[in-house]
Amino acid sequence: MVIIEPSILSADFAHLGEAAKEAEAAGVKAIQIDVMDGRFVPNINFGPGVVASLRPLVKITLDVHLMIVEPERSLTMFTEAGADRIIVHQEACINVHRALESIRELGIEAGVTINPGTPLSTIEEVLDLADLVQIMTVNPGFGGQKFIHSQIDKIRRLRQMLDERNSRALIAVDGGIDTETAPLVVNAGATVLVAGSSIYNSSGTVAQNVNALFKSIR
Ligand code: DX5
Repeated sequence: MVIIEPSILSADFAHLGEAAKEAEAAGVKAIQIDVMDGRFVPNINFGPGVVASLRPLVKITLDVHLMIVEPERSLTMFTEAGADRIIVHQEACINVHRALESIRELGIEAGVTINPGTPLSTIEEVLDLADLVQIMTVNPGFGGQKFIHSQIDKIRRLRQMLDERNSRALIAVDGGIDTETAPLVVNAGATVLVAGSSIYNSSGTVAQNVNALFKSIR
């Protein structure tokens, strides 16, 4: 079963509460909250306060994607704010094994993600600690970027690695996911489609855009 996970990075920041409620009303099970520190990625936005503000408004999973250096230092803060899952970048952790263990010790789901230039081998030893593995199909920092097709093979290889381990970890794909690219990544083994600009835009409502994405992968 494929899950569509809207990324609120592409929503109107003046109305994030409505954006989250609109996603829940459209029937999605999770939204992704992109946290950026201006160092690991060029952009800056969202802190634990945004998670805390959204928490009481929706029941769906708040999936916090930390695009920050040393995310280990912020795990408790985002968990206390209401995160149901925290995704850390392997490249940003001093010790990604310990980071994932720490997230699970906090009682929430652990996710790990790698950028387009980072090999799968860098997370091979921690797959057993991940409830979700996210393949970035853009270089992180901004919504609306072009999908990087070379990552499709990486998704396929990750699917094989997880199947060999009988892992139940979800494979999320994040960046440039729309009705053209969604079928490509689902065929390669992705089960969670993180989508920002194809969901939050002026050409349709969140529900219409979510339905269009589902239709594209039938
Ligand atoms: C990029 C973020 C993505 C982004 C996706 O740095 O991590 O989640 O919001 O946006 P689109 O779907 O517009 O590429």
